[in-house]
Amino acid sequence: MRWMIAVALVGLVACSKQSSDKPQEPAGEAAAPAAAKKLVIGFSQVGAESAWRTAETKSIRGEAEKRGIDLKFADAQGKQAQQIQALTSFIAQKVDAIVLAPVVETGWEAVLQQAKEANIPVILVDRGIKVSDDSLYTTLIASDFVEEGRMAGEWLAKKVNGKANIYELQGTTGAAPAIDRKKGFEEILQKYPDMKIIKSQSADFTRAKGKEVMEAFIKSDGKNIQAVYAHNDDMALGAIQALEEAGMNPGKDVTLISVDGVKGAFEAMVAGKLNATVECNPLMGPLVFDTINKVRGGEKVPKFIQNKDQLFEQTNAAQVIGTREY
Ligand code: AHR
Repeated sequence: MRWMIAVALVGLVACSKQSSDKPQEPAGEAAAPAAAKKLVIGFSQVGAESAWRTAETKSIRGEAEKRGIDLKFADAQGKQAQQIQALTSFIAQKVDAIVLAPVVETGWEAVLQQAKEANIPVILVDRGIKVSDDSLYTTLIASDFVEEGRMAGEWLAKKVNGKANIYELQGTTGAAPAIDRKKGFEEILQKYPDMKIIKSQSADFTRAKGKEVMEAFIKSDGKNIQAVYAHNDDMALGAIQALEEAGMNPGKDVTLISVDGVKGAFEAMVAGKLNATVECNPLMGPLVFDTINKVRGGEKVPKFIQNKDQLFEQTNAAQVIGTREY
């Protein structure tokens, strides 16, 4: 009998020790809810080739910070292979969503298939892609690049009265804005037989290459150059430098139009060196994360969410330059 009482006492002590190790909940009070899980988003960016792209990166990073989102940022330095690597790593980390600014249009099927199988929504920003199955991405948030090309073509046709020898600086080969801005511009030229693209070459969306390609155009064609159509402002700014160094008068002897609407382009318009720019809005941060929230909440979003653009020229550049955000 004595030994039975002893065993019972040991058991009681053990029980009370276990329960006193755990923090006690005050009677009648529910446990506090677990802190909301931080959203984790992977963002694969093309690089930093232009002022426009730097503004886009700043907008997306800044908005993520404001909203307390854990943004995993990967700069691909203009290489698709690096973007595929970044996406593979985001998928392995099981991020909540992927934001992709694709450097070129093709070659995305395999990695996007992996994202789809992992149930990770992919939001394309600023550039579209060509895939046989468009369920491989959720939506594209971008400008209509073909329309931008058309706007540039129509403006130039008016400016030169339908007659000009045009030199074209193309963006990165295989990139949606290079393909579509050329397409839209050429569509307009069909109506103006005396407006001809004499030479057209890629300058990779950078100011340095814009200058380099323009120098080559000047060397071979000199005074024959009447107009320049650049697929972005940075290349136009490089071309302006080349024209000035060759003793030519950009904005006067040579009419220049480009795309983006960055601060540098407005300064060049105010200085009378660039004639016009078609805006392409890079301030995507708020829209990108609003869209991700909708998708995560089960809402259906359109396959293409379009940013609206407008054209600026020397006559209105001075009035709006102070209001430009990028
Ligand atoms: O995809 C948008 C284009 O890419 C911008 O016009 C250009 O500046 C950029 O690098």
